[in-house]
Amino acid sequence: MAEGEYPKTGTSGDAEPFRLDSVLEEADQSLCRSLLAQAMGLHEKGDLGGAERLYRAIVGKGYRVTDLLPITANMAWQAGRHGDAMADWNALLALSPKHPVALLESGRALAHLGRPEEAEARLRAAAAALPESPAPTADLAMLLFDRGRHGEAHALCLDAARRWPEAPVFAHLARRCVSAKVPFWHVPMVNDTARNEAFDTAIRAAVAAHGQDAVVLDIGAGSGLLSLMAARGGAGTVVACEGEPMVAAAAREVLAANPLGKRVRLVEKLSQQMAVGTDLPVPADILVSEIISSDLLTEGILPTFEDAHARLLKPGATILPRAVAAVGCLVGGEDLARQSLVGSACGFDLSAYQKLSAPRLIVDGLAWQALSPVVTLLSLDLTHPHHPRPWPRWNSAPRRTGRRWASCNGCGSI
Ligand SMILES: C[S@@+](CC[C@H](N)C(=O)[O-])C[C@H]1O[C@@H](n2cnc3c(N)ncnc32)[C@H](O)[C@@H]1O
Repeated sequence: MAEGEYPKTGTSGDAEPFRLDSVLEEADQSLCRSLLAQAMGLHEKGDLGGAERLYRAIVGKGYRVTDLLPITANMAWQAGRHGDAMADWNALLALSPKHPVALLESGRALAHLGRPEEAEARLRAAAAALPESPAPTADLAMLLFDRGRHGEAHALCLDAARRWPEAPVFAHLARRCVSAKVPFWHVPMVNDTARNEAFDTAIRAAVAAHGQDAVVLDIGAGSGLLSLMAARGGAGTVVACEGEPMVAAAAREVLAANPLGKRVRLVEKLSQQMAVGTDLPVPADILVSEIISSDLLTEGILPTFEDAHARLLKPGATILPRAVAAVGCLVGGEDLARQSLVGSACGFDLSAYQKLSAPRLIVDGLAWQALSPVVTLLSLDLTHPHHPRPWPRWNSAPRRTGRRWASCNGCGSI
């Protein structure tokens, strides 16, 4: 394309070049000024189709092109002619590659059109072109969030919240990123006094038994609480690892807020990515870890502990907790029935809706009655370096007591 020319816009496949304002004859300019006044008049009256046709005619003559292309692009977009809108933005960017509005609006449009890679590139360019504005960064963070890149979106939002403290969108989106990756139970867990005290007692005893040279490895630092306990117990070396970056960032702040935190080394990795010699000075004497889900296994305790035994611990290291068990019983009662059974409502038979009831319920907080004795469903000795597959799933079955018959409608966990 020759200098002073740009591609035609708002239609597809037409590569006919047009002149720029600077090369317009005075007569053309005066015609264009008059057309522009008419277009603006139509626009004001709400005749969008007529106005857009005139704006495009003026653009076609090469007059006030960079001013008018954003208008035609927006009008085409509003009318649902997304291809025309994108052609206008692209034409504008061909003329002015760093045009901030074209970068931002076309980035938004590409995101809307389901073209996320191109959208991301445009929004990043818009952020660079508009360093004082939070808008491109907000759109970019939302795009990353929608694509499941929560860690990146979170880091971007934290940085943006510092730069633009007056823009609440970043704090809000940062919290959405956290809740997408960090389960709700992190907070109630650290407020579970019985749990905390049991760990504290066990950690103190283990460190006392090993002496002050004890090397403690805390897998899954969370807040860093168990590591702080180990440091308070007198362990010479405490290394904590945390695999979720958003949790690790919070742990770093917690450690900084507590004087004993200086004695804890936080490694922002999964334990499976750690190595002795780099992340741990020597194999650890004590492993402390609370990666125990309500059903015991789904936080990966067995493969994680097996890997730690094989690579990160001294033979015969102290393991806290050394054993875990899941217990259960048959439960029932009015509250649970309301959560899982459907009969009639307001005189209508809704029983077919029963098919949609959840096969699994969190029963914590609900009133329930035990319908059988408590039995051990699964127990594991975590001091064993290996747990042969298949893992034990069910050690004994709950027994029915009395003469009550009912249907079993799923399972739950506390
Ligand atoms: C249940 S929380 C426990 C937090 C803390 N240790 C406590 O007891 O308060 C488990 C944490 O371990 C992390 N985690 C799970 N498996 C991990 C692994 N293999 N390596 C590092 N972190 C892990 C999770 O991201 C989560 O933050």
